Amino acid sequence: MAEHTIRFGIIGAVGRGSSFTRSLKANPRASIAALCDIRTERLATSAAELDVEHTFADAEAMLDSGVIDAVVVGTPMQFHASQSTMALERDIHVLSEVTAGISLEECRSLVMAARRSSAHYMMAENFTYQKSMVLVTELVRRGLFGELYYAEGAYIHELKALNEQTPWRRRWQTGVNGCTYPTHSLGPILQWFEGERVTAVCAMGTGHHYMDPRQNSYEMEDSVTMMCRLTGGALVSIRVDMLSDRPHNMGHHVLQGTDGSFESADGFRGVPKVWLRSRSEQPQWEPLEDLEEEFLPDFWRTPPAEALAAGHGGGDYWEVQDFVSAILENREPPIGIDAAMDMTLPGLVSQESIAQGSTWAAVPDSRNWV
Ligand SMILES: NC(=O)c1ccc[n+]([C@@H]2O[C@H](COP(=O)([O-])OP(=O)(O)OC[C@H]3O[C@@H](n4cnc5c(N)ncnc54)[C@H](O)[C@@H]3O)[C@@H](O)[C@H]2O)c1
Repeated sequence: MAEHTIRFGIIGAVGRGSSFTRSLKANPRASIAALCDIRTERLATSAAELDVEHTFADAEAMLDSGVIDAVVVGTPMQFHASQSTMALERDIHVLSEVTAGISLEECRSLVMAARRSSAHYMMAENFTYQKSMVLVTELVRRGLFGELYYAEGAYIHELKALNEQTPWRRRWQTGVNGCTYPTHSLGPILQWFEGERVTAVCAMGTGHHYMDPRQNSYEMEDSVTMMCRLTGGALVSIRVDMLSDRPHNMGHHVLQGTDGSFESADGFRGVPKVWLRSRSEQPQWEPLEDLEEEFLPDFWRTPPAEALAAGHGGGDYWEVQDFVSAILENREPPIGIDAAMDMTLPGLVSQESIAQGSTWAAVPDSRNWV
């Protein structure tokens, strides 16, 4: 085994955590040393298949075992902050699933733990790594959109049946009124508006048109939109809809600048499209793909088979590689603790906004939590 191999443990290893195994196995500088899940019968099978030596039914026991240097937190949302905090307190690096936490209080504790720890924290916001998102980020970085002033993101994923199979979703996603799952939408947008964050949100919903199987109304309104004001004054609209009967569209994105415009494919017979003044004085769309040859960042030009096979448009692969590199080079990961808060806190504050009749509510800056 290479000298600088990072030994990983995965919590939630037979659920979402399992989707990290292929990307970890593909990295010669990482190994999977331990798996943890409360579903122990499936855990044994998974450990045998992956040839992993250590298994745990308890996350704290795995963190105390001394057999891991880093942990993937792939458990339900309500465990992310506490399990990440426990790991950071033990100087174990953390790659946490989205969102970073389910309350402002536990997010604050997580930030404090990250500040005290010698280990690195990264939130696994995989949509930011999708090829089209990466290409748009590069176009923005080169100034081709001019001054950015508007963006949209939407996560539309009808999950009523899945709510019953994974009851934590019924509690923490559709059981709370607000933008409870905004990071896939907000993540790429905040990378376009580099150096900015959401300073205030105003959230509103469509009311309730569906019942759960017990004939209870969902606490979350069917479709919730939060308007976000960014540091530089730009306006961003984020829609989260996990209840409406309709086909999925988890990756809707729009970007508007003074010199260009982008719209995502939106999943049905469309392609991502862009207009840049520098390429055409008259506004007319061209496929985003046509700009790949000139502008696509190197890492996406010749992706390995593992990246092409990975879930969420390759995002599940690239985020792991970036995290491992950040640990080995002892630098802040691309979606470090404050970037994770920038993507998570607006959704938590949106709950306050909607509860107060859609008033604007200030979003704290975690950089002040020291
Ligand atoms: N980034 C993405 O694209 C993406 C996709 C799917 C899910 N997720 C996130 O991943 C997380 C898990 O989602 P899921 O669909 O796999 O949920 P799930 O309920 O199917 O699986 C979670 C796993 O965690 C295990 N678990 C629960 N509590 C545990 C504990 N205290 N200790 C150890 N293991 C525990 C469960 O047994 C299960 O195997 C959620 O936060 C979800 O939002 C992200």
